[in-house]
Amino acid sequence: MKIAAAVRDGDKQACFAIRRAVFIEEQRIPEAEEWDGDDATCTHFLAVAKGAPAGTARLIAAGDIAKIGRVAVMKAHRGSGLGRRIMRTVLDHARKAGFRSAQLDAQVTVLGFYENLGFRAHGPEFDDGSGILHRRMTLDLAADVDSRDRAVSGAG
Ligand SMILES: CC(C)(COP(=O)(O)OP(=O)(O)OC[C@H]1O[C@@H](n2cnc3c(N)ncnc32)[C@H](O)[C@@H]1OP(=O)(O)O)[C@@H](O)C(=O)NCCC(=O)NCCS
Repeated sequence: MKIAAAVRDGDKQACFAIRRAVFIEEQRIPEAEEWDGDDATCTHFLAVAKGAPAGTARLIAAGDIAKIGRVAVMKAHRGSGLGRRIMRTVLDHARKAGFRSAQLDAQVTVLGFYENLGFRAHGPEFDDGSGILHRRMTLDLAADVDSRDRAVSGAG
């Protein structure tokens, strides 16, 4: 298993292929909503498992805020902790790069996934244009320990 920023063009194309499979084909999000100008400038992350692309996410710099999005794990790899590992990699990258906080718009069905990582939801539900309800979530990167780590350190 390897999770890293996608630098080579082939790795970025692998990220796009995962998004196509997950968001466009599986979730039926329109192409026009999926691809945007940020794809050319943001940092893409690629997870490779057993030699095959398995997951992705992207990080957009917005001042001192790291906007995280397009978090996707291929169906066959879900439920094994890969999404969590991708997010931890992106958050580590963001903290080292000096961002003060992380922000994302989470599909309401996956709020718990991000809450486990320490994100908190704010404000009302909204449709981001994809037809899927979302809520804004934020995480203070200075206090970036997820709930499991907090539980462990709290116990010790
Ligand atoms: C959301 C997604 C990225 C999660 O990836 P994953 O690899 O299946 O998740 P993990 O196995 O790393 O799960 C980590 C933890 O989050 C929890 N979790 C995972 N999906 C969840 C969900 N939909 N709701 C609540 N909790 C969830 C897991 O139970 C696990 O909890 P634990 O640590 O207590 O065991 C993946 O399901 C996916 O790609 N879904 C389709 C695309 C999508 O909806 N992306 C999010 C857009 S906002």
